[in-house]
Order: sequence, then structure tokens, then C-alpha cells
Amino acid sequence: MKVLVVGGGGREHALCWKIAQSKQCTELLCAPGNAGTRNVARNVDVSADDVKGLVRLAKAEKVDLVVIGPEDPLCLGLADKLRAAGIDCFGPGADGAQLEGSKTFAKELLERHRIPTALSRAFDRSGAAKTYLESCTQWPQVVKADGLAAGKGVFICKDAREACRAVDAIMEEKSLGDAGLRVLVEEFLEGEEASLLAITDGEAILLLEPVVDHKQVGDGDTGPNTGGMGVYSPAPSLTRRLLRQVEQRVVIPAIHALRREGIDFRGVLYVGLMITEQGPKVLEFNVRFGDPEMQAIARRFKSDLLPYLVATAKGKLAKMDPPAWDERFVVGVVAASEGYPGTYRRGDRITGIDAAESLDDVVVFHAGTSSEGDEAITSGGRVLCVTGMGSDMDAARDLTYAAYDRIDWAGKFCRRDIGTRVESRKERIAKMMGKAEGGARGR
Ligand code: AMP
Ligand code: GLY
Repeated sequence: MKVLVVGGGGREHALCWKIAQSKQCTELLCAPGNAGTRNVARNVDVSADDVKGLVRLAKAEKVDLVVIGPEDPLCLGLADKLRAAGIDCFGPGADGAQLEGSKTFAKELLERHRIPTALSRAFDRSGAAKTYLESCTQWPQVVKADGLAAGKGVFICKDAREACRAVDAIMEEKSLGDAGLRVLVEEFLEGEEASLLAITDGEAILLLEPVVDHKQVGDGDTGPNTGGMGVYSPAPSLTRRLLRQVEQRVVIPAIHALRREGIDFRGVLYVGLMITEQGPKVLEFNVRFGDPEMQAIARRFKSDLLPYLVATAKGKLAKMDPPAWDERFVVGVVAASEGYPGTYRRGDRITGIDAAESLDDVVVFHAGTSSEGDEAITSGGRVLCVTGMGSDMDAARDLTYAAYDRIDWAGKFCRRDIGTRVESRKERIAKMMGKAEGGARGR
């Protein structure tokens, strides 16, 4: 089977790395790919948002399956165009992709189907948004741009002045372009964050093992939000009981809701959650694998991933047995370039990847890299994701940082605390869930 992976980040390197191991894969292409994907796939220089170019490529190469990594081509309708051309595709059409592409679309669907989420109001005019904010008595409030903003569209504001400034930046100064034509003002939820990813063909649902991302750039969850600075899996804080609760109250109702609304959703539903005292509530949906969550999933997913992607694309996921997972722990640390998530350095030569991978159980996934001859050069803010596995979190973390320290380029940095606060998270969630259950029994 000939497979095309669309995208060029760490998620796509992890997808290619895993798909290339499949006996069913005879040829693998990646568009546009990076300096890592070229080791396992044939990179083709077509950009991930060039819908026409990608359809042309898939037809010309007689590709059997296209796996779409990032959200932009999904929102642009790449999956619809491929399906119309008779090509199987892993990833929802533009209608389903609105779950990520429009926060108000997602919010309205959640409310219509009574799926727990933060209370919110949508505004098309900055004046009305600011009048509302000035009347708020509860702080903080969360101001969100409606559209795709690469993780930069959410502002947690401590008072009305800060919130009005966020509204002006989004709606008047258009700092996020068309993504800010509408804003959402949302109640601030307190609790622990967790992400749960499910593969679905719209009917059958396969929950993936939970992964915990670290969104802020600095140690101890400080500084601005990023696409994700590191991951670990499994997530001891997401107990079996809590997972069942999220599945029953959120994942299954959301996928049923899509079907009832006539949306044929084939791909990944990524649910961003806040585990609050009242139970789990939805913060956001994504319609694709997370990055760097996929890097951790690729390491722990022991079965051949490709048959699951094909079955999802063909609407036959129910026929698949549950996959096998590696029981060990994985820690993934993102190596970023000085300045990220703001303007960052690029064009620096990377050394030491082979030395890092010479350690047992280490795999280095490329993200923002490009090739210069045989060498890898930095070309993005998040440059690599170093992953290591161990029998417990400490062993996985020590191995990952030992591997990270063998890699070098000018301006390299990472968070040093990935996978260190697992126990405290677990205890805090257990305490919150205890309270939530006590409350339910009391009523
Ligand atoms: P989103 O892109 O909607 O997931 O928001 C990005 C980040 O902002 C989330 O990962 C949370 O850390 C935070 N966030 C978003 N919405 C809320 C909320 N209603 N309450 C508290 N934090 C939030
Ligand atoms: N790591 C967060 C995301 O992929 O959205």
C-alpha cells in the first residue's frame, strides 16, 4: 500500500516512523516533510496547505491512503477533495474540522448536546464584548479568538482592563487576522488539564492511551503558551474511573452528536479537558493528532498503526481488535530554538542526534528542521522532540534528558521539568474527583 502523510512537523515524523514499520506499507511519501521524515519516507516539496497540489500529487502517485497531520488542510477541505477523487483519507472533512476551526461552532454543538463545558458568550462586535466584560463580577475571564490561531488565540484575563485590551488586539488591531472576526468570552475553569484522543470512523471509537502535554514555555508552567513543550504517557492522574467518566460523558456523546448533525467524521477527535470539582469539562476540540502527543503515542502503540488508519478511512474501525500498548513510560522533551514562541533563531546546524539515538530506547523526532546536504539545520521554533522509554517515569525522564544533552546547536533550550510533577497532579485530581462524587451523592 502506498501512503502519503501530509505535514512537516514532529507529529508527521512520528506518523511516518510508525507507518514505515508496517508490513502493509510498500511506499511512503511525506509532503513537505522535514530532515527526519526523509530517513523513512520520500519527501515531496508540496506545502501542507496547498490543497490542489496535494490532490494532484496523490492522484499522480496513485496513493492508496492519505493521512492528514495538521489542522489547516483539514479546515481547507483537503479530505473532501481527496474523497471526491476516490482516494481514502484519514482526517475529517471541512464540516467536521469546524470543531477545531471555529470555537463558537464547537461551543454551540456542546451546548446543543448537553456536553459539559465552560459557560461562554460569543460576540461579533468589540463594543458589545467590552460592555459585557465591564459588567462581569467574576474574574479571571477567558477571551478567545474564534478561528485557528496556532495556540495563540486564548487570553486569560485578570480584570476588565486586561480583557478589553485582548478584545481590542483581536478584533480592532486584527492581531490574529480573520481568526479574530468573532470572540468568545468564557468562564475561567479551575482544575487539572488533560487531553484524551480517540480515533473514530464516526461509529466505532478507539480511545488512545492518555498523554499529558506541557503547554507553557517555562518550567513550573510559566510564561506564554506554546504548541507544547513536552509530554509523558501514561498519565497516572487519569485513573481508569476518570477515563470511563470522560468517555461516557464527553467522547461518546460528542461523536454521536456529530453523526446526528450529519457530519461524517473519520479521523482523530482530540478532547482538551479541565478536570474540575464538578467533573470533566471540555476546553477545546482538535480534529487531528496532537503535537507532541503523537510522538509519545507512536512510541507506546505496539500494534501496526496503519491498519487502524485504513479501517478508519474506510468506515470499518469496528472490525479492528484493540491495539497492544507498551506498558512502559515515555517522556518526550521538545528541544526549541531561542526566542520561541516569539521570533526565534533559525539556520543553525544540529549535531549529536546519532549520539542521542545510540542510547537504548531513545528516538529523536524532527519537527522544525530542514536538510542541507546530509546535515539537519534548524528551521522552526520547536526543532526536535527527544523521546525515551523506561519502566517508570523517573527512568524514562532520566534517559530522555541524557539523550537531550547529547544534542547541540546555538540557542537550544527545553523545559527541565517534563514528567516531574506527576504525583502531585494525581493527588490533586483524586481530591477533586472525591469532592465531585461527594457532591453528587449529597444531592
Ligand atoms: P484552548 O486553545 O482553548 O485549549 O486554550 C489554550 C489553553 O488556555 C488551554 O490549554 C488552557 O490552559 C487555557 N484555557 C482555555 N480555556 C480555559 C478556561 N475556560 N479556563 C481556564 N483555562 C483555559
Ligand atoms: N499539543 C497541543 C496540540 O497539538 O494542540
